[in-house]
Parts: sequence; C-alpha cells; structure tokens
Amino acid sequence: VTAEKGGYEHFMLKEIHEQPKAYRDTMRGRINAEGNKVILPELNLTVEQIKNIRNVQIVACGTAYNAGLVGRSLIETLVRIPVENDIASEYRYRSPIVTPETLVIVVSQSGETADTLAALREGQANGAHVLAITNVVGSSIAREANDVLVTLAGPEIAVASTKAYTSQLIAFTLLGLYMAEVRGTQTEEQVSEILTAMHALPEQVEEILAQKEAIKNYAEQISKHKHLFFIGRGVDYAVAQEGSLKLKEISYIHSEAYAAGELKHGTLALIEEGVPVIALATVESVLEKTVSNIKEVKARGADVMAITHEEHVTDLLRSVDQAFVIPKTLPLLTATLSVVTLQLLAYYASLALGHDVDKPRNLAKSVTVE
Ligand code: G6P
Repeated sequence: VTAEKGGYEHFMLKEIHEQPKAYRDTMRGRINAEGNKVILPELNLTVEQIKNIRNVQIVACGTAYNAGLVGRSLIETLVRIPVENDIASEYRYRSPIVTPETLVIVVSQSGETADTLAALREGQANGAHVLAITNVVGSSIAREANDVLVTLAGPEIAVASTKAYTSQLIAFTLLGLYMAEVRGTQTEEQVSEILTAMHALPEQVEEILAQKEAIKNYAEQISKHKHLFFIGRGVDYAVAQEGSLKLKEISYIHSEAYAAGELKHGTLALIEEGVPVIALATVESVLEKTVSNIKEVKARGADVMAITHEEHVTDLLRSVDQAFVIPKTLPLLTATLSVVTLQLLAYYASLALGHDVDKPRNLAKSVTVE
C-alpha cells in the first residue's frame, strides 16, 4: 500500500510533496527560451478574440472555485479585464450576462463535475468561448470545451485537492501572462520578472515542506479546538478560503475564512479567549491594515498565528503569538506558497484527530450529479 503512495502514509501527503514537480510540469514547454514570453500553442483562442474579450467569468466548484478566486486577481492584475467568480451550481440560475466577447473559464481537476459541465454548456449556449483548465485530458469537460489548458499535476487520488489547486494557479498565471502579451498590458521586463519568480517556486515549495514538523506541532494544537478562523486581505483572503475548506474537509474542525477587514462587521462577536486565528499576512500593500485586524482579534483573546515573509516577522511577532515564515516571491505568486502551509496544517490536524485523511466522510473525489 505504501508503495503506491510512494512511501508516504497517505496519498494527500504524497500529493502535497509532488507540488514542485507539478509546478515544473505545468510550466514546461510553455515559456520561450529567452524566458520573457508565454507560449500556449494548444489554444484555439485567436489573438483577435483575446483582443476583443470584455469580461471573464470563472466558474467551478470546491477547491477549483477557490483556485478561480486567485485566478481572478491574477487576470485582473495582469490583463485589466473585469473578472467574476461563480460557483458552478449557481451560475446558470442567476442568468449570467454572457456575450460572444465573454471568456468563460471553467476549472475542474477531474473534468467530470456535473455542475461545472452544465456551466460550460450554459456559457456556450450564450455564445461564449469556454476555456477549461483541467487535469484530465480525455474528460467530458476537456472534450466539450472550446479550449483546454491542461494542468500537469498527475493523477490526484486524495479527495482533498492539493497539487491540482496549485497547478491551476500556475495555469492561471500562464494564461494571464499570455493574454497580457496579446493586449499589451505588461511589458516584456515585467513578464520576464514574473517568469523568473515562477521558476523559483518549486524550490521554495521544498523549503516549506522541509518545515513540516513546525506545522505539525501547530496542527496538533489546533486539533483540540472546535472552531477557528482564517483571515487575510486580497490574495491572502482567497488562500484563506482554500485553507478553511481544506481543514473542514478532512479534520471536520469548523472554520471560517474572513476578509480581515470584514471581521468587525459581525464575526468578531465569535472571537473569545483562546480561539485560534490564522492570519495570512503576505500581501505587503495591505500588511498594516491586516496588522490592525490582528490587533482587533488579539484584544478579544484570540490566539493568533501569522503566515508571513521573513522581513515582516519581527514586526508581526509584536502582535501575534506565533508566526510561520514562507519564502519571498512576487505578490502575484504568493498564493502558490502560502497555501502549501495550510494544506500541511489540514493534513496534520486530520492525522492528529485520527480521521481517514484520504477519504473524508460524506465526500467524493468527483461529483457527477447536479
Ligand atoms: C468534489 C471534491 C473537491 C473538488 C470538487 C470539484 O467536491 O471533493 O475536492 O474540489 O469536487 O472537483 P473538480 O474535479 O471539478 O475540480
């Protein structure tokens, strides 16, 4: 059994460790030799179509939806086109405003999720070009989409998605850079700076994996709690949502992800002595604001753990109880690193509680009913 798990105790842990390879495989062959341009020859989307896109709708379920939240900020930042995120099961019932100038991006690890497939058909029925980001080449979604951008994460067995999510983030970054080139929204220097930073990611993930004992210790602490909170701003908020989902899926600990600044509009009422709060604080431009939100929860007795970069840790440790340092990358790419910490946290919390990590109760790897 451990042989097929590559010596790991669970598929999930194996898949978490496969992320450096998944990043490399998803990037391979998609960057030119000079390292200043993304090439996606597999796309049918023409230069003309890309120039005409007026809006993007990213539609998915579960973890793939959470990847789309990061995808939105990537595309909006790189291409300056308005992006909406939709949960696939909600999408068509809200009569979305789709035109032939809408690019619909469906995201699905398996390519078989019924709600996502229905959303794809809804987009096409309204004349949109539908691009699928999927991990399975021959899947229903891959077959029906107008375009497929494959993630090369390799087969994902654990119900809780890890390497598929991060590979989706890589795919979104590549797509964003490609569209930016066509629309002239990023300079060649900016693109090569981002690509250089992307090349460093696999090793930076290894650095995080090397610190898993520290995460395990913290996971054991939080496994004694019934409720906890994740807070963050910007991309940190998107990652918080994925961290919270991961924890709920496999540890069954209730958690909520909150936009750090929104906490005081309601959820702050739930913060009492000893409640763990995980604060993602990697987005430099809003760091000060996040720190004031951290102080709000600290003042109510929360036990705060921050995830941040080395250069901010001394400062942050004045307001938090503990901190975990992730390697430095560009703000645009920080999600691909910080989330690995939260994946390990969920894994070790589930392990500490003795749950079936790879096959959590009530959940299926892919849901083929609407
Ligand atoms: C199920 C899985 C989730 C997954 C979601 C979407 O609910 O348990 O882990 O994120 O489906 O799956 P997909 O294959 O479309 O990405």
